[in-house]
Amino acid sequence: MGVIYGGRSGEHEISVASAASILKHLDREKFEPVPVCIEKDGRWTLPDRAPVALAAAEVIEGTRAAAAKPLPGGRDAIMPAHPGTDTLLTIERGASGSGGGTGTPAVVTGLGLDVVFPVLHGPFGEDGTVQGLLELANVPYVGPGVMASAVGMDKATMKILFEARGLPVTPWHAFVAADWARRRDDVLARSLALGLPLFVKPSNLGSSVGISKVKAADALVPAIEEALSFDRKVIIEAGVPEPREIECAVLGNDDPLASTAGEVIPSREFYDYEAKYLDEGSKTIIPADLPASQLAEVQRLAIEAFKAIDACGMSRVDFLLSRATGALVVNEINTIPGFTTISMFAKLWEASGVPYPDLVDRLIRLAMERHAEKQRLRTSAF
Ligand SMILES: Nc1ncnc2c1ncn2[C@@H]1O[C@H](COP(=O)(O)OP(=O)(O)O)[C@@H](O)[C@H]1O
Ligand SMILES: [Mg+2]
Repeated sequence: MGVIYGGRSGEHEISVASAASILKHLDREKFEPVPVCIEKDGRWTLPDRAPVALAAAEVIEGTRAAAAKPLPGGRDAIMPAHPGTDTLLTIERGASGSGGGTGTPAVVTGLGLDVVFPVLHGPFGEDGTVQGLLELANVPYVGPGVMASAVGMDKATMKILFEARGLPVTPWHAFVAADWARRRDDVLARSLALGLPLFVKPSNLGSSVGISKVKAADALVPAIEEALSFDRKVIIEAGVPEPREIECAVLGNDDPLASTAGEVIPSREFYDYEAKYLDEGSKTIIPADLPASQLAEVQRLAIEAFKAIDACGMSRVDFLLSRATGALVVNEINTIPGFTTISMFAKLWEASGVPYPDLVDRLIRLAMERHAEKQRLRTSAF
């Protein structure tokens, strides 16, 4: 079983912590884990030492840096984009490096993986790119497929599908860099028509990176430029007044189950990167203090959101519940949520009767089932 972690995104460190938790709690009688690290520069390596830090802050702050980070110098790994018994090719470089021509030639070894757990957050991993490679290689993998992963990463497209399924979302609009260059006044007018405060976000990102809360009109242009520095598509949303942040985890394929709901109380004005991973003040409350009927509604909407993007395996669906108006909206779906034992996803399932090792087990079973289902499909019209 391959555990692919790290990745080229800003959420590399969080992924390292998620992978460390999975590796620690995996049932070794059933699975033989092969940690595969995607380095920040995009190289795939088999690390000499698997990650051990269990909290994102630890990895980010480097408090246990030497132990937490996979050491450089592992073997390079390549996943061929075609089916075969060698899922990974590992490359041991010759004494004088790779390309030189003199020295010992590189040794290539094949390695078969029966299933892969991509535990990658953000672009280049949670967004369908790695899932696409796994599809080409025809390897079962945990979590949603290519389309659901891509849609789950793109907040604008995600909202279109949520609306098409009748889910409540906050008023929003989206535009691309070319619109900003050519029709700036129009973009500004449409944005301000949503009212203040606004949330300005890169459409494809996570962990609150590049997101601004805009409370005054003159802060809008810098917020848009900040978001455009991360993505060519930007989404602008009406701020939900006095929001409570409610989260619900979903597990399954065609008959997904919803966990109990949890609530996050951010330590800062909103749940930004600092509040998520760095300062200690953010709190989670499980189960969230909600009346039974509202909990049932959150669970129903979580499953609907999962189905709206045609997800499978797992997702975490995040809601904003206005204290001011009582309105509940679906904010986003995360197809590979933070996966440490102290992450909301795991804690929600723990509180719903599925302890962490069972969770990993079930996800692998779901991956196998979905893969088997796809193998049965016809690939030819005749
Ligand atoms: N429309 C909104 N109204 C109020 N708060 C918001 C809104 N959108 C985002 N936020 C705040 O910003 C945080 C991050 O936004 P989110 O869309 O979840 O991005 P990410 O994918 O980076 O987690 C949310 O958890 C919430 O605190
Ligand atoms: Mg979020």
